[in-house]
Amino acid sequence: MSKKIIRFGVIGCGLMGKEFASAAARWCHLNVDFEPKIVAVCDANPEAAKWFQEKVPSVVKATTDYKELLADPEIDAIYCAVPHNLHTQIYVDIIRAGKHLLGEKPFGIDKEANQIIVDEVAKHPDVLVRCSSEFPFYPGAYRLGQWIREGRFGTIMEVEAGFWHSSDLDPRKAINWKRRISTNGEYGCMGDLGMHVMHMPLRFGWKPSNVRSLLTKVVKERPDHTGNLVPCETWDNAILACEVKTEDQQFPMILSTKRIAPGHANTWFLRVTGTDFSAEFSTKNPKQIASLPYTPGSEQAWHITDVPYQSGYSTITGGIFEFGFSDSILQMWAAFCDEIVNRDAMQQPFRCATPEEALASHEVFTAALESERTGQTVTLSGRD
Ligand SMILES: NC(=O)c1ccc[n+]([C@@H]2O[C@H](COP(=O)([O-])OP(=O)(O)OC[C@H]3O[C@@H](n4cnc5c(N)ncnc54)[C@H](O)[C@@H]3O)[C@@H](O)[C@H]2O)c1
Repeated sequence: MSKKIIRFGVIGCGLMGKEFASAAARWCHLNVDFEPKIVAVCDANPEAAKWFQEKVPSVVKATTDYKELLADPEIDAIYCAVPHNLHTQIYVDIIRAGKHLLGEKPFGIDKEANQIIVDEVAKHPDVLVRCSSEFPFYPGAYRLGQWIREGRFGTIMEVEAGFWHSSDLDPRKAINWKRRISTNGEYGCMGDLGMHVMHMPLRFGWKPSNVRSLLTKVVKERPDHTGNLVPCETWDNAILACEVKTEDQQFPMILSTKRIAPGHANTWFLRVTGTDFSAEFSTKNPKQIASLPYTPGSEQAWHITDVPYQSGYSTITGGIFEFGFSDSILQMWAAFCDEIVNRDAMQQPFRCATPEEALASHEVFTAALESERTGQTVTLSGRD
């Protein structure tokens, strides 16, 4: 099988930059005929790039100036994982340079910043631009998506989607860029976690027509690097009560993003209840999916099914083994590379989050901030 090699540059060599390097390093895990090769990296901090130079043999260039990567004809695509305040300038420059882009969420620090990216995307239809969001590639989430596409649920009664963490429960945890408005944005936990929560609902056309939000700040101060307590500026937890109106359905949808949810470490979940079928998947029980088929008069029994290693792309791991976070990153990368190579003829139908979906998520988060300020339900543009 002759492989199509996609030459990548990485901008931002922190936590997520390394996750991509790790996914690319075990590409042999996947049974696919395309492959990313990381050839160049950029980080404002040269120490961060060193890790790549030491561990990723394909890297031939490291720089502190991302424009060097954009000018390099030996680079086809860029993964960009930098703080939110830098998304707009760097993403726009990447797109203008004609490089395909997988950019990290939230795709701009706020709605205005996002709109600038979306406008640039529209000017470059040949450049593939997608937003990182890996959880829909968990086998359980993937299966739930198939059920939604098949229209199994009948009349949808309610949808609940969330992403809950407890990593900020400890008040001694030092402040970082994710707790500051200037670098993370006013959205706080919504900007940080919200695209993960909204990717699947938006993919199935469930854009809220209105939103009432409840936003909370739990830990108000944290130590800085000198040990002094400084204000924690961003929202820790958010509950958004939304209404969804599609051509044939109308139902409430609760979206929650929490950085302080005791007992939870990266719990992403989606629940859909309907008159004919209900289903639920949570990364808390990553192998299991719960479903409840119903026909009038029949017994109502939840079925718990193991859905182990069967996601969008076939792998060397047998279907009886279990799946995890780094596997979802690998599958998301397969979807992005597949789409660069095969466009509409992808090997499986679930593509990475699109710029339009990122824009829709910004509309919801901006409405949620307004709802918090006014205490009112805020109507979104489009439908009501
Ligand atoms: N998909 C996910 O599951 C997931 C998880 C965590 C974070 N993220 C997203 O990834 C992005 C980065 O987050 P992270 O956790 O990797 O952050 P991080 O702080 O670990 O890494 C960010 C890196 O960007 C570098 N940087 C800053 N300014 C730069 C510049 N001008 N040019 C080049 N490099 C620069 C920093 O030095 C740092 O090494 C954010 O958008 C965040 O929301 C996504």
